[in-house]
Amino acid sequence: MDFKVADLSLADFGRTEIQLAEHEMPGLMAMRARYGDSKPLSGARVAGSLHMTIQTAVLIETLVALGAEVRWASCNIFSTQDHAAAAVAVGPNGTVDAPAGVPVFAWKGETLEEYWWCTQQILMWPDGKFANMILDDGGDATLLVHLGLDAEKAGVAPDPTTATSHEQKVIFAVLNASLGESTDRWTKISAEIKGVTEETTTGVHRLYDMMKEGSLLFPAINVNDSVTKSKFDNKYGCRHSLIDGINRATDVLIGGKVAVVCGYGDVGKGCAESLRGQGARVIVTEIDPICALQAAMDGYQVDTLENVLGIADIVITATGNKDVVTVDQMSRMKHQAILGNIGHFDNEIDMAGLEAPGVAERKNVKPQVDVWTFPGTDDKPGTSIIVLSEGRLMNLGNATGHPSFVMSNSFTNQVLAQIELFTKPEEYPVGVYVLPKHLDEEVARLHLDSLGVKLTELTDTQASYLGVPVEGPYKSDEYRY
Ligand code: NAI
Repeated sequence: MDFKVADLSLADFGRTEIQLAEHEMPGLMAMRARYGDSKPLSGARVAGSLHMTIQTAVLIETLVALGAEVRWASCNIFSTQDHAAAAVAVGPNGTVDAPAGVPVFAWKGETLEEYWWCTQQILMWPDGKFANMILDDGGDATLLVHLGLDAEKAGVAPDPTTATSHEQKVIFAVLNASLGESTDRWTKISAEIKGVTEETTTGVHRLYDMMKEGSLLFPAINVNDSVTKSKFDNKYGCRHSLIDGINRATDVLIGGKVAVVCGYGDVGKGCAESLRGQGARVIVTEIDPICALQAAMDGYQVDTLENVLGIADIVITATGNKDVVTVDQMSRMKHQAILGNIGHFDNEIDMAGLEAPGVAERKNVKPQVDVWTFPGTDDKPGTSIIVLSEGRLMNLGNATGHPSFVMSNSFTNQVLAQIELFTKPEEYPVGVYVLPKHLDEEVARLHLDSLGVKLTELTDTQASYLGVPVEGPYKSDEYRY
């Protein structure tokens, strides 16, 4: 079996944590019980690009239990939990000497070159076959297939010297190398792919953009906008893992500090609530008047970053946008202010600007924690800021991401979406879809018992008064929760 992980000897530790997580992931375990015999994913070759954590291990092994063959990479260079990667590669029935699990290509602390190499490995099967399904988080696997096909059609990969960022340069180099190895690899892969299921807001934006341009090659299910995903993982997940990341990275007392959360969408709402829960004085920045009004009514001060830069002890970006904190703003932050991003990509904070020669001096404190010091003047020493995870999602870089129970909701949606696209291709012409509401309600239902939740049942009269079936769905598609 081909795979690449940091250290297979961590597999036992990983397996124990996977077993603990299974108990906390009732939705995924219900999928195994329901579909383990019929195996609706038989014949599916799933290329997964999603943070290689313990929770993801339970997702991977659920896909396998449903009949899929799977290959996996992480969707971030810092988010892999090496014991989870080792346990998945060894598999429940393998040994360290004879791994018999799923080919995983992921380790914590990949270089960008390694990251894109790993992403390529998940699309190619050793027997000359290719993936026929993608499970994506942020859209990098989908992007690679689209860029690969473009390059193949043009007969030439993009020139790395025309790249506008280091990462783009790396991708162009990967494409150049792949064109040297084969002239029809990406044509074959893109023809095989039946569809992609996308996990996060940023990846979903990319899919809708491709759909609008007419360049999308295969159907996609937007898992993010299942209510049981974005209103739970993005909000309650970040409410848990933001604080975890700040604590593990800095151990600074959050109570009494001024914390700025940029963006008051689902992620920002969870972040703001958790910082307030720790006693921080939270300020929100927003560009959308509706979200700004929500933040104000939830009791937060809403201001511009520029206005509050001088008093902020902690600044967290949660927008999915770029250039939200500029390097000039970083240089004017308080001494030892903490700066972190929980949005998907590392361009929310201008890391390229910060890393440019002569701008600031970097001192690494420990993995994924750096102090950057700006030059001072004769009468004023330079200030320093603490930057988490090099501007990449700090809840996965500095901590272990969201806990199992909330990820069970997200990943049950992923499994249902994979089954939909793989088993009913005729119902999904190229386009971007969300799962039907009855499945969304089903995902929630699967998580009630373990929290001791007792649902009230509609009577027939009440149901007809509301105009909904007794068994649901209960809300229109426009309902916002
Ligand atoms: P969202 O669209 O619900 O919220 C983003 C908010 O940022 C919007 O309200 C928007 O108006 C605001 N915004 C945009 N530009 C801004 C600017 N310049 N200044 C201030 N506010 C601005 O998106 P969601 O679901 O909250 O996701 C945000 C990011 O987090 C995405 O990149 C998503 O992929 C990522 N994400 C990360 C997770 C993690 O575990 N780290 C989990 C889920 C999502």
